[in-house]
Amino acid sequence: MHLTFQQLKLFESVSRLGSYTRAAEELFITQPAVSIQIKRLEEQTGLPLFEKVGKKIFLTAAGKAMYQASSDILIRVDSLKDSIEELKGEIKGPLHLSVVTTAKYFLPHLLGTFLQKYPDVEPKLKFTNRARVIERLMNNDDDFVIMGQVQKDEHLETYPFLNNILGIIAAADHPLANKEHITLKELAKQRFLIRESGSGTRYVFDSLLKDHGLEIEPYMELGSSEAIKQAVMAGLGIAVLSLHSVQLEREVNKLTVLNVEGFPLKRRWYAVHLKGRKLSLVARTFLDYILDESNKLFNVELD
Ligand code: PGA
Repeated sequence: MHLTFQQLKLFESVSRLGSYTRAAEELFITQPAVSIQIKRLEEQTGLPLFEKVGKKIFLTAAGKAMYQASSDILIRVDSLKDSIEELKGEIKGPLHLSVVTTAKYFLPHLLGTFLQKYPDVEPKLKFTNRARVIERLMNNDDDFVIMGQVQKDEHLETYPFLNNILGIIAAADHPLANKEHITLKELAKQRFLIRESGSGTRYVFDSLLKDHGLEIEPYMELGSSEAIKQAVMAGLGIAVLSLHSVQLEREVNKLTVLNVEGFPLKRRWYAVHLKGRKLSLVARTFLDYILDESNKLFNVELD
């Protein structure tokens, strides 16, 4: 068989994503180019690799064997690249990270100072919500991921770093803003703005309500912490948010943290990867950097 590395890469991407179009997007080439290469691969194999049922494509038996082989080869080539970098002792090359959206308030800054030290590192960052980050973590798509709420799982290696303090955030002129002790019952009567399902912040909020046997009718669901912050400042309601996301607004006295019983919630931020994943030299160096430096640069306190 005459297979090229590029064909295997395309094939692996189409199989994993279940779509020619998404594979083309991922690899920055056109969809017809993907089809041609897959066709050539099928000619070389002498068997179809995909079958179409309705609008979906599925791997045939030959396709499954090819998928196994191409995944193995791509992993081996990746680790070969890492070994060569290690031998050279140079901190350079790609750094793949998936990061929950709320971490955008500190992670780019950590990366910025890291890149000043190691300018040849090529960061590939994906900011997305918790559900998508977990999906990528389980697919072993990144060097590691950054997230706020990690459930116990023996397949995961977790490294806690910064404190992640979550509070009930309100506009500075909210009627409850200066109240000393707000009960959860009182809180539940307020208008709540919540994140979309799949968000880690939403997950905290839902667990909290469940733990206290509380039920609320969310006033509005919004797709980002930024949108929630704006809506809270506009007086539309209150919300659970990580204090990392409201530092500036608290400083200029636009937003405040309410004194609610049981709050704030003290959590941590975590770097996470699958157990057994061998980190590249770049990834290991960045992970050590986060663990050593984040507290000096970004610790957040309630006051
Ligand atoms: P989110 O995640 O940005 O998806 O809300 C935050 C978290 O994991 O704590």
